Amino acid sequence: MVDFTKIMNKIESDKLISSLLQNWYAQHKRSLPWRNSRNPYIVWISEIILQQTRVNQGHDYFLRFIEKFPDIKSLAEAPEDDVLKIWQGLGYYSRARNLHAAAKQIMEKFNGIFPTSYNNILSLKGVGEYTAAAVASIVYDLPHAVVDGNVYRVLSRLFAIDEPIDTTAGKKLFAKIAQSILDEQDSGNHNQAIMELGALVCAPKQPKCLECPLQIACLAFEKKTVPAFPVKKGKTIQKERFFNYFHIEHHGYTYIRKRDNSDIWKNLYEFPLIETETQSDFLKLQENKEFITLFPSANSIYFQHKFRLKHVLSHRIIYADFYVVEPNPKTILDFDEKFIKIDSASLFKYPISRLIHKYLETIQ
Ligand code: ADE
Ligand code: SF4
Repeated sequence: MVDFTKIMNKIESDKLISSLLQNWYAQHKRSLPWRNSRNPYIVWISEIILQQTRVNQGHDYFLRFIEKFPDIKSLAEAPEDDVLKIWQGLGYYSRARNLHAAAKQIMEKFNGIFPTSYNNILSLKGVGEYTAAAVASIVYDLPHAVVDGNVYRVLSRLFAIDEPIDTTAGKKLFAKIAQSILDEQDSGNHNQAIMELGALVCAPKQPKCLECPLQIACLAFEKKTVPAFPVKKGKTIQKERFFNYFHIEHHGYTYIRKRDNSDIWKNLYEFPLIETETQSDFLKLQENKEFITLFPSANSIYFQHKFRLKHVLSHRIIYADFYVVEPNPKTILDFDEKFIKIDSASLFKYPISRLIHKYLETIQ
């Protein structure tokens, strides 16, 4: 069990932590395009992108995004497909959809002006406590501590906290501690400093304790137990799913469809798909009802199994078999109602999942 009072005493006895952090940050922060910007739109976009990507990869996405949608209005007025297309490859497309929805929300509810209070920022679609605290502190100097993966790691080591970070109780405790070490006079800098330390020094593997400004205050370092933190209770179970995709090539056209609004990959485009309960091969597929409906004249069609890709998402593992389907030129395909007929070459213009993207790259 964690003794919160003991931790609080330690924090009281050393207000030092935030000043060590901020001194270090002033000297070592990376120079990044969104750093020091006080434009809430810029900070918001960068924080959403950084939630799912390392800074190096996020950097390029950020620039492309800002170039295409330089302000709230342009984002709000863009077609959803354009927003998803820019997001291509980042994964977690719901974040792009939420950005889009939030931009519209700002236009309608806040007269196009980014909200300035923590609670109004938090009311935006897709903005949780982390993002609200980041924007509120970096842009408006409001005293809200951020808690992200970096912060969990730094705090759990600094105070040798063995409370799991993936439980409700653990999250509450870490939020409380993060808030109690916050420098309320300079919350934006403090928040960025602790995240930057987690990214550059107190890294998940091989933290650079010997270069760390917090070393003198760090309990895990003192007890030589750094690798034991942070503690996690359980891994999320990953459900397995089995997808069979049909890449049809017919007179230079192929067929795609837009995924619906339930399930993964909402509103992204993909090839005709049959999902099966277990791993299928072509023999099994031929007995599948959906397959028979899709390809009633399968014997005039040449099917070629290209390969199987394993694709890992946060809560799922997808095994995808890709088939290239070449109907005899005379075959008439009755697909126009179910699918969108497109020029094979124009597939890259549509927002597609990372899995489909991987497939297209592999066959090229
Ligand atoms: N990770 C996410 N946001 C960050 C920020 N503002 N500074 C450093 N690392 C981050
Ligand atoms: Fe992290 Fe090591 Fe610094 Fe402690 S001393 S905060 S474990 S980098």
